[in-house]
Amino acid sequence: MVENNGDLVGADSPVVVVANRLPVDLVTGPDGQSRWQRSPGGLVTALEPFVAGRGGAWVGWSGSAGEAPEPFESGGMSLIPVPLQEAEVDRYYEGMSNASLWPLYHDVVEKPEYHRTWWDTYVQVNKRFAERTAAVAAEGAIVWVHDYQLQLVPALLRQSRPDLTIGFFLHIPFPPYELFTQLPWRSAIVEGLLGADLVGFQRPAAAANFVQLARRLHDLPARGQQIEYEKRTVVARAFPISIDVAAFDELSRSPEVLARAAEIRKELGNPAKIILGVDRLDYTKGIGVRLAAFQELLEDGVIEAADTVLVQVATPSRERVEHYVHMRETIEQQVGHINGTFGSIGGPAVHYFNQSMPREELAALYRAADVMLVTPYRDGMNLVAKEYVAARGDLRGALVLSEFAGAAAELKQAFLVNPHDIAGVKSQLVRALRVEPAEAAKRMRGMRRHLFKNDLEHWAGSFFDALRGRAGQPASSDDSRGQPGAQG
Ligand code: ADP
Ligand code: F6P
Repeated sequence: MVENNGDLVGADSPVVVVANRLPVDLVTGPDGQSRWQRSPGGLVTALEPFVAGRGGAWVGWSGSAGEAPEPFESGGMSLIPVPLQEAEVDRYYEGMSNASLWPLYHDVVEKPEYHRTWWDTYVQVNKRFAERTAAVAAEGAIVWVHDYQLQLVPALLRQSRPDLTIGFFLHIPFPPYELFTQLPWRSAIVEGLLGADLVGFQRPAAAANFVQLARRLHDLPARGQQIEYEKRTVVARAFPISIDVAAFDELSRSPEVLARAAEIRKELGNPAKIILGVDRLDYTKGIGVRLAAFQELLEDGVIEAADTVLVQVATPSRERVEHYVHMRETIEQQVGHINGTFGSIGGPAVHYFNQSMPREELAALYRAADVMLVTPYRDGMNLVAKEYVAARGDLRGALVLSEFAGAAAELKQAFLVNPHDIAGVKSQLVRALRVEPAEAAKRMRGMRRHLFKNDLEHWAGSFFDALRGRAGQPASSDDSRGQPGAQG
């Protein structure tokens, strides 16, 4: 049981979410004072409203090394911090999670490194998360574990608390057999995930990759979405994640956001066209590709810096991991080169912000942007693409979207691109810049229709219902009902 000033915080929770990060990060300001701020990334964007709405507990790291703060109540949730020491941040978070698993699961866009000390720490930290969760979950509770940092937690939790119903959702892609089997600890990861009753993925192809691994690597009987394991049936299926579409739509229609959008255009010098990129500064996001396409179009004379600007907002991310340090240098050099060549006094061609921005400011940027550029080499979903569409209730604007983002399977009316094909990116960007308003509106309407039906509540609700349906299931039940979507 977890206590705070004599009160029990989060004890006996019937619903527990477990993720590497809490929805808020403890940061220390220049004045040396610590304060909580919203954590970066799509996982928090998607999960926070769901957990808050159900008054659940959230087990996660505070984002700072050292002792964990006491559990506390925040935004209708009980937050249960898990401590990570400095060496654990190095090996579990920056090492195994973000220098081994992250690149491996993203098509080895950068080369993954494998170190036994990182793995040992990953096991140790996963055990701590499982212990902390076991201490707060009520008898028969539903526990929902998230993402690649915690793939061993389902099996560890099942060992100590067989009464729980355990779900796992992977927010990033899951690689095919041929890539996954590089991992020296591949069997342990698969066994860790098989501790869950329900394993959710962004795309049907990812779920199929997992079922195939269980079959080929572990010789387990598997049929469709079901794997038979230790006298239980584990179900693996796709649940494409989404955003709170109605809330984002409403925010972007507010007079404040509309006024700010107009002001942004003015501050940028009233260009004819604004192109926008919004990402965590991550090498999977293809930020360099879009800068290169923009630069070549300027060089070719197809566009002019005087009337077409690119705004790139890149939130700092994983700043001590080597690949990230290197990519930041490359991106900033590229921006400097473009501005040095094509900018004018007071008029850069690329407006680059290496900072996080409030949601209202992002909504205003989306509303101001004529073209949104989303060009990842590989992305589990990409919520930025969905936010842009949700923000365009005026049916204006055009989305250029990578085929390798999970969102491409849903936002089919986007201008789809292969980010490895720079000529293709250039020509789709030009099409998007020149699209007729009627065609733009038709595309946007189609995407918005899909999103309003497939919003956050639909994602979380369908996962949760499927998980609840797994509680106390006999070993070979049929749970193939309601499989959504196309092959991915
Ligand atoms: P990932 O989970 O890999 O970061 P997503 O596109 O799925 O990628 O989610 C990113 C989330 O982070 C979105 O909700 C987006 O609005 C938010 N975000 C991205 N860049 C910024 C930024 N510069 N400032 C604030 N929020 C940001
Ligand atoms: O799913 C991608 C992810 O790792 C999420 O867990 C998180 O929302 C986001 O990226 C941010 O990453 P980090 O927690 O490493 O800053």
